[in-house]
Amino acid sequence: MSHDDLSFDEIDELISPRAEETDFDQVVETALSRRGFLGGVMTFGLGSFLVGTTAMPCKALAEGPADRFGFAAVAANTEDTITVPEGFEWDQVVTWGDPLFADAPTFDEATRGTAASQARAFGDNNDGMSIFTKDGRTVMAINNEYTNRKILWGNNPDRRWVTEDDVQKGMNAHGISVFEVARDESGKWQVVLDSDLNRRITPQTDMDLTGPAAGHDLLKTDADPAGTKTRGTWNNCGNGETPWGTYLTCEENFNGYFSAADEAHEVSTELKRYGVSSKDWGYGWAKVDDRFDVSKNPNEPNRAGYVVEIDPFNPTSTPKKRTALGRFKHENAAVVLAPNGKAVVYLGDDERGEFLYKFVSHCTYSATGDNSDLLESGDLFVAKFFDDMRGEWLALTPETTGMSDAEIRIHTRQAASHVGATTMDRPEWVAVNPTKAEAYVALTNNKNRGKKPNAGGDDTSANGPNPRDHNNYGQIARWMPDNEDHSANGFSWNLFALAGNPDVHDDAYAGSENINAGNMFNSPDGMAFDDTGLLWIQTDGKYSNKGDFAGMGNNQMLAGDTVTGEIRRFLVGPKECEVTGVCWSPDRRTMFVGIQHPGEKGNSHFPDGGTSVPRSGVFAVRRTDGGLIG
Ligand code: FEO
Ligand code: CA
Ligand code: CA
Repeated sequence: MSHDDLSFDEIDELISPRAEETDFDQVVETALSRRGFLGGVMTFGLGSFLVGTTAMPCKALAEGPADRFGFAAVAANTEDTITVPEGFEWDQVVTWGDPLFADAPTFDEATRGTAASQARAFGDNNDGMSIFTKDGRTVMAINNEYTNRKILWGNNPDRRWVTEDDVQKGMNAHGISVFEVARDESGKWQVVLDSDLNRRITPQTDMDLTGPAAGHDLLKTDADPAGTKTRGTWNNCGNGETPWGTYLTCEENFNGYFSAADEAHEVSTELKRYGVSSKDWGYGWAKVDDRFDVSKNPNEPNRAGYVVEIDPFNPTSTPKKRTALGRFKHENAAVVLAPNGKAVVYLGDDERGEFLYKFVSHCTYSATGDNSDLLESGDLFVAKFFDDMRGEWLALTPETTGMSDAEIRIHTRQAASHVGATTMDRPEWVAVNPTKAEAYVALTNNKNRGKKPNAGGDDTSANGPNPRDHNNYGQIARWMPDNEDHSANGFSWNLFALAGNPDVHDDAYAGSENINAGNMFNSPDGMAFDDTGLLWIQTDGKYSNKGDFAGMGNNQMLAGDTVTGEIRRFLVGPKECEVTGVCWSPDRRTMFVGIQHPGEKGNSHFPDGGTSVPRSGVFAVRRTDGGLIG
């Protein structure tokens, strides 16, 4: 079976179909529509969820405080390039297959590299990324989430893997690329070839399993009878960085790499909750490495689905999988210090109807001390949103779940279902406002909302922060912790934006008031605040520019003023791409933006044009006058 044209969640749906809606769901749905939920007249209607977030009228903005954006809006388009506002420019920093070491060849269009060259070159499909500085040196750490198989193997007759080297090349295109960058004479940021800080981390790299689940029977394999050492990380989506200078990389759709030689092999109920199955998604890893054959190594999938901590300035350090932060399809890890010095990490599980989590460290951060074990132990919570605009972080403990501390960290989804957490519309990135005690989550879309339960059977009727059935546009919710303390259990919440199309719809699918014909988008995904408190929003949505998506163009990046609610489009990506990953140079005069999977359906030659192979990459955006950007 070919899954080449399907997204991760489409493949999950195909391989692990959810039950159709139950009679109970229909009863609830009918009740909600009778009460006019989508029209906004339920007790706390859609309108009230948006309290304080509607955009000011233009006139008020013009007369009010100066425009915080510092750029003119870019129109939607379907060009095969990056479009930035007038007064801005962009150039390439690194693209898939570019060598990080001089002993690797430059990218070869004809062969698209080998396993050996790929192990020494920038990986494919870059996603979350961070920049670190120390002793005058600047290092980038960037996730290489997955591969465009039809492009990676596009030199083969049917654009699939043929040899073992093809499979190993695909494997080596995953993981993380860590490399030093510096400006050249013309001021452009470039990879420092052969820097002693450069490193590729792949599905083969040795890693430690740490925290409450380390050593548990469910993590033991023949190769690691102690359950404390594993190899590799893959499908690394969003990221995080800690105040103590480490990089966090988040394992998302780890399930799609496991299969069984015998496709009739039945995986356990626990693995099914995570979408692990006996069917190969097309990567072929089990064909070259028994670790990925779930019939031979049924515990191996329990050793993936974590947040991994990496020291970007020590290329020989062993990455640490932090089981304390739970196991699910991790999107990113947004770290903030609470007033009491505890490290708080917000974490989304990107699957339809799954949950939003929070970790609070047991120990406290020390500006001068050793923080290397801060993510080793802490309390894990899951979000419950109430329709009265309040919310609560429900503790996942042996008392609340009936599971051991280790089991909670391995079967985290089951623990969260047990306590009755709020099912969400695919939580993508969380971003914490540096200027105010609040955090934002992108809820990208959920076509099953109101239609099917999640994989654990939890009801997914529309609820407060997820108010629309068959949600094909997505929304951004935010919460304000009690006492301005991110370690507090209580919070209040509202919606910052409901994406939609006001040209096509005149109901809730038109979006919130701050969505208009000039800034509409669908499927918010990547999000990050800059130092000034502007919220940058990246999209991974439908780019047909037709029907429900007419007028939205290619995937894009926008900025949101979280005080006024105004949202303005900053950048449009090339054809069939996703815009994901953003970070800033230390002087904040360059914004690095990730472009992932241009031409994923075969219709792009970005960035090199002509007939070239489309390649994901990192692009530097600057003001032409050299001014600050974010
Ligand atoms: Fe890798 Fe949820 O995006
Ligand atoms: Ca994402
Ligand atoms: Ca994505």
